[in-house]
Amino acid sequence: MNILKEKGIPIDKQIKTWHDIVKRPYCRAHVDNYTRTRQILLNGIEVEAWGFKHQFVRKCDDVEVNKTLVKIRRLEDMQQTTMNWLCPANQTVLDTTLGYEQVAVDLTAWLAQNEPDKYVKETYDFGLLEDFDHLYRYSQFAYMIEETDPNEILHKMTDVLLARPTQYHHNCNALRLRKPYDIEKTSPQTKVNILTLVSAEQQTHNFYAEHGFMYGNTDLKRLYAEIKDVEEEHVTMYESLINPNETMFEKWLIHEFTEVCNYYNCYQDETDERIKLVWEENMQMEIGHLQVAAEIFKKHEKRDPEEVIGTELVLPCHFESQKKYVTKIIEEQVDKRLGTNFDYMNIEELSSDWASYKVQEMVGEKGAPSEQVIRLSMQSIGRDIAFANNDLLEKEPELLERALQDKYEAPNTVQVEEYEDFIDIDRIDFVEEQK
Ligand SMILES: [Fe+2]
Ligand SMILES: [Fe+2]
Ligand SMILES: [Fe+2]
Ligand SMILES: [Fe+2]
Repeated sequence: MNILKEKGIPIDKQIKTWHDIVKRPYCRAHVDNYTRTRQILLNGIEVEAWGFKHQFVRKCDDVEVNKTLVKIRRLEDMQQTTMNWLCPANQTVLDTTLGYEQVAVDLTAWLAQNEPDKYVKETYDFGLLEDFDHLYRYSQFAYMIEETDPNEILHKMTDVLLARPTQYHHNCNALRLRKPYDIEKTSPQTKVNILTLVSAEQQTHNFYAEHGFMYGNTDLKRLYAEIKDVEEEHVTMYESLINPNETMFEKWLIHEFTEVCNYYNCYQDETDERIKLVWEENMQMEIGHLQVAAEIFKKHEKRDPEEVIGTELVLPCHFESQKKYVTKIIEEQVDKRLGTNFDYMNIEELSSDWASYKVQEMVGEKGAPSEQVIRLSMQSIGRDIAFANNDLLEKEPELLERALQDKYEAPNTVQVEEYEDFIDIDRIDFVEEQK
């Protein structure tokens, strides 16, 4: 279908009652883990859609355009309420956190394998290992604080294992900047993929910022603070791939198109019939927004929207288990770091004045919360909360050895020998072994 020819729901018919905006949440115990990841992602997509229109209106002196933007902006905000509040009140902050990192891992892995631009793909692979490591660190706390088996949330679709240690995700932010894509040559798929991931990472950052203090445990708060800061780096990294020379009208078009594609993909994949209807209705609303954005784009830019977004939908958020792909990236790239020329390097290629060493030294001077969590896990549970197939689990000490930096490590870093002793104890006994 040519998406620009679809009508959708006209924007003047999209305002809803509070009763329709606040829908019955899904059930924590019975929800499919990928229904949850879709809900988390779509909330992030709506937050970005809303925030972008605020930036646009602040910069725009055309009253007619602004009148339309503020109308649609309210609709985005109402959609955001619907999406976010599908999350049930009895899902704890840590439960939801595991959901956020599952989104990050399985979404990034999907995007990396469906990304035509090699440089963008490389960036996804790099970020993937970091979110994968966050999932491991939070899983220790989920068990320690709330006695939650992470697989109650993850449904065994995503492995839980340390990768590139979180203490090494802290960089000089200038090194996080990537090269932006070429406006002329870049495919709509690449543009949609990037905006989807930026939205997800930004919302992950916001969620940690707004919820990390809700636990009384100082070590856990510090872990939220540490990982929140990495998510800030992720937003920096992914958003810098977007070309800054796009006009605001062009960006608006890409935003609405990205929303349509995400709802369409979620609608296609959804297994819960009730939730599927929610995705469908919101997709129709987004098609209505896209129509308006396309008309305004034509009028102001005297260009065809097809030049920017094409006519075909792309699938930016298909969720499925990505264990095999993630394993491959861990084995290949656990010792990868940000390079100095918008590229990547291995640890041994870094010079002693690599800018991130200084940052790591400053933030980690009193110990890294992400290392502390393993020490706490050793003391309180006595066993590592990790799930993966045995081959990968056995390689862990070797992978950790490769991932540790000689030049800098936080004073409380868990050393390979310590980790070996720790995992020598049988893995947690309440979960069946994964084959
Ligand atoms: Fe929206
Ligand atoms: Fe993360
Ligand atoms: Fe992230
Ligand atoms: Fe929209």
